[in-house]
Amino acid sequence: MTDTTTEGSPEFASSPRRSLTIVRAEGAGLWDDAGRRFVDLGATHGAGSLGAANPEIAAAVAAQARELLYLGAGYANPVRTAFLEKLLQLLPRSFGRVFLSNSGTEAVEAALKIARSATGRRKVVAAMRGFHGRTMGALSATWRRELREPFEPLVPGFEHVPFNDVAALDRAVDDATALVLLEPVQGEGGVHVASEEYLRAARAAADRSGALLAFDEVQTGIARTGRLFAFERWQVVPDMLLLAKSLAGGVPIGATVTTPEVERRFRGSHHSTFGGNPLACAAGIAALDFVVRENLAGRAEQLGDVARAQLGHLPSERVREVRGLGLLIGVELREKVLPYLAALEARGFLAISAGSTVLRLIPPLIISEDDWSRGLAAIREVVSAGAG
Ligand SMILES: Cc1ncc(COP(=O)(O)O)c(C=O)c1O
Repeated sequence: MTDTTTEGSPEFASSPRRSLTIVRAEGAGLWDDAGRRFVDLGATHGAGSLGAANPEIAAAVAAQARELLYLGAGYANPVRTAFLEKLLQLLPRSFGRVFLSNSGTEAVEAALKIARSATGRRKVVAAMRGFHGRTMGALSATWRRELREPFEPLVPGFEHVPFNDVAALDRAVDDATALVLLEPVQGEGGVHVASEEYLRAARAAADRSGALLAFDEVQTGIARTGRLFAFERWQVVPDMLLLAKSLAGGVPIGATVTTPEVERRFRGSHHSTFGGNPLACAAGIAALDFVVRENLAGRAEQLGDVARAQLGHLPSERVREVRGLGLLIGVELREKVLPYLAALEARGFLAISAGSTVLRLIPPLIISEDDWSRGLAAIREVVSAGAG
């Protein structure tokens, strides 16, 4: 594996890229332009939870494209209504309103605007190591300095507190706070799971101060952690739930789910040309049907257990910790992760990192047991052998 820029390509080189060219997918398999099959252990970044070419999503998109490809959000459309109703049926009854956009970062931006407008306050409290996207508002909530610094000044009013530290959160959330924004499992930040106590404290702090509480489930949402939504595990219900990635089976979508009460307090306007387009909504209906019918949450839980059992005995001189929930797993190494990603790629497995030392496993939830156990065996092999 070489981490290259897009040298020789007209594409703007805004982030490093691998030298592989992927042309086709089936199940959890990805084929390159030379006909080699790779197993996706993270290459689709959680957006490919149903596989990167799920036939049911493809059929729904093709049928919808022939019927009505695009319509502005200013007009009613039965496909959008059906998708929203299906999504809300899977959520606690307190929810009842959804703003649709096209990506995770837009789902976050909408939450920031809704919270500031509904509360009339400015301050946003987010967590250290958190990741919420790369547009200016979402980036202001994101923690990593390297991601933020070149683009400063960012949006004012953001404060970061240590993750899982109840006292620090309690001190930060006050009557100037519009929003408390947290990931139930920090994905990009290294796969750190929130404690139940922390999420309960966040709910209590928001209630006490009059702030809104948002859970960013862009990465954890839709069955990834062994529940349809990670917050179900702790039964701490936020005022806003932010979804994207696999919500429409790999078709771009973002959703900011909230309550009629928050909508009532909202002032101003917010809009997206492509948000809620019929193509994404048709894909979303097919994706939600698939996730529920195939019990992908149960599958994530079961395959996650297999992983924890198999990765629990990795050599401690190389591995600091294995953590995560369901099929969002982080293997924290005591050394740089890139050489291990290269060794896995050479064996036909594409995994990604979360920071410089964490190997992140975020495979499609439809991965076969055979591909999964071969992937885990490859990880055991490369970690036991060491990168040197
Ligand atoms: C928790 C979280 N929030 C927001 C985002 C941003 O999503 P997008 O890349 O679709 O803008 C990501 C992307 O990885 C994420 O993991």
